[in-house]
Amino acid sequence: MTNWLKKEIEKISMIEKYGTVCNSDHFKMDANENLVLDKNFLMKISLKSIKKIDLRKYPTELYDQLYKKLSDYLMVSEKSLVLGSGSDQIIDLLLTLIGKGRRLTTIYPTFSYFKTRCQLHGVTSSEIMLSSIDNTFDSEKFIDDAKKSHAIYLCSPNNPTGNQFERSQMLEILGNLKNNLVIIDEAYVEFAKYSLSKYVQEFPNLVILRTFSKALGLAGARIGYMIANEELVELFKNRVQSPYAVNSISLAIAISVISNSDRVEKSISLIRHERDKLYHNLSKIKKIDVYRSDANFLFIKCNEEYDRVIESFDNRKIIARGLDKIGSYGNCIRITIGTKKMNDKILSVFNSIQ
Ligand SMILES: Cc1ncc(COP(=O)(O)O)c(C=O)c1O
Repeated sequence: MTNWLKKEIEKISMIEKYGTVCNSDHFKMDANENLVLDKNFLMKISLKSIKKIDLRKYPTELYDQLYKKLSDYLMVSEKSLVLGSGSDQIIDLLLTLIGKGRRLTTIYPTFSYFKTRCQLHGVTSSEIMLSSIDNTFDSEKFIDDAKKSHAIYLCSPNNPTGNQFERSQMLEILGNLKNNLVIIDEAYVEFAKYSLSKYVQEFPNLVILRTFSKALGLAGARIGYMIANEELVELFKNRVQSPYAVNSISLAIAISVISNSDRVEKSISLIRHERDKLYHNLSKIKKIDVYRSDANFLFIKCNEEYDRVIESFDNRKIIARGLDKIGSYGNCIRITIGTKKMNDKILSVFNSIQ
């Protein structure tokens, strides 16, 4: 084996593994999927749409149809949209665009996959710490650091903390960083207060990432998209993204889900309601600290009770996302909001450690 390859393999082996948990007899509440949307309903509309597909052909027409549907649904021009195989795949392409050796500013904690992908692509990331009191960060510090960088990444609402930063703070950052590629990951925006998508016309350096995996209930179909200025989209769609990154089956399913968006909207309202209720109930428990959330999950500081909480989740056959120690936050977990029945089970876990 040549020297360079050996070195590269050693370097990649140091990157933290992205672990996935699989246990079919457990409630899966670690990946922020929409488990409130009815599985049988999704299956019924999916099967109906799949029957119309001609699998011998590349999905040209289906791409056109989904772009049109998505544009109507979001009230965003078709020329501002690029589809991808999950937003994960678009992240990889954006990091390819940023390029090896370049620098990026982000916050800590944030979407851990993004950091590991920076490492894989040789993009150096600099992190501004969030306050463990209220999950906020200092704009001036962030902007000063970002001025030394080529790009920034902010998650809105943030994963794993769940909060959406103030709109005025995001606009201040955008206004001050016109020479950076600004990536705003809005994977959970349907559960939040606002979107920055309308600013893509004003800021040609702004890229918004979205996904069908969370609110839209299609994590298994692997579809994400980006919203950006038309010039950047034209370049990205025709020169950076591969021509058929999303397959016919996923495209057809996505079209049918958007056509039934009232069902999706209903599930989103229910999740928001359940989230606020669970937050309220958990905030009465003294041994833990729960943070207010604008997403479909709650971020909880478990303090000395972390091991007991993890064990109790396991005993009740619930998979939560144990995050271990996160900087000044200490030991935390992140838990997806599900149906009322699932959320009652979560509450019972925390009640048991009182
Ligand atoms: C903030 C954030 N961005 C992107 C993704 C990935 O989404 P997708 O399923 O579209 O690849 C996730 C998934 O957990 C996420 O939390």
